[in-house]
Amino acid sequence: MDARATNAYWGRDGLDRTILDALRAAGRNVDALTVDELAPADHFHSGGKSATLRLARLAALRPGFSVLDVGGGLGGPARTLATEFGCRVTVVDLTESYVRAGAALTARLGLGDRVTHRVGDALALDVGADPFDVVWSQNSGMNIPEKERLYAGFARVLRPGGLLALQEPMAGPVQPVVFPVMWARDAGSSFLRAPGEMRRVIEAAGFTVRAWDDVTAEAVGPSTGGDGPAYSVQRIVMGPALDAIVQAGRRNRAEERIVMIQAVLERRADASAPPPRTSG
Ligand SMILES: C[S@@+](CC[C@H](N)C(=O)[O-])C[C@H]1O[C@@H](n2cnc3c(N)ncnc32)[C@H](O)[C@@H]1O
Repeated sequence: MDARATNAYWGRDGLDRTILDALRAAGRNVDALTVDELAPADHFHSGGKSATLRLARLAALRPGFSVLDVGGGLGGPARTLATEFGCRVTVVDLTESYVRAGAALTARLGLGDRVTHRVGDALALDVGADPFDVVWSQNSGMNIPEKERLYAGFARVLRPGGLLALQEPMAGPVQPVVFPVMWARDAGSSFLRAPGEMRRVIEAAGFTVRAWDDVTAEAVGPSTGGDGPAYSVQRIVMGPALDAIVQAGRRNRAEERIVMIQAVLERRADASAPPPRTSG
């Protein structure tokens, strides 16, 4: 998916307002909002905030770490890493309305000194000269077929010994995937690979596996048949279309068509330069 298709699929105008209205309707005081109250509406992945906490603990994130959250969406994970682990987080996302809404939510929670949001493509990371301690990627690579280039790009922006913390839906042992899923109406924009193949691709990009966990059983969400409150980000973004996603998700989970992996990988010192970008 190119930038235009990505924005057309994921983008929604005024999302921060819509989220605040939905939270207000659910009885929350949006003038004194906490990261926890916001979590169902800004963690856009299976397993919600608890999956983010699990991955952060798996990676042993520490205060002061600089984190690049690639495809970081509305910034729920980023704000959690800032408030609960003391990290400084740069969120990059290709969907402009998410970057605008994410920045507004970060400002509302008074976290602008620790979390920043910018528009950018995971396949062409342009994030300055200072290497990051951690690249964080949570349910953000599903629309990207060029996995080799994606992970080589992650290695390029990490310091040697830096970590890739990954949560990603992958192709299960039974195929094909049943559509629609959260990230695609049909197979034309869904690019999942099997865990073994993903592991080989990421290792070849210059990483060593530190942890590789199948969390399908615990990271429940609409893509695996779960549902959430009316103010869940999935309901707010997808609207009535979420019902068919949840229905397909039940099959994808029960029939092992989609599995959810959490992994932590260390960038090797000898990681080579990524292949050049070949097309727009
Ligand atoms: C399911 S959301 C996950 C958002 C966030 N990681 C989270 O867990 O809350 C998928 C995100 O991937 C982003 N995305 C898809 N393709 C991208 C690309 N090539 N570069 C940057 N972001 C991308 C979308 O804009 C969307 O915000």
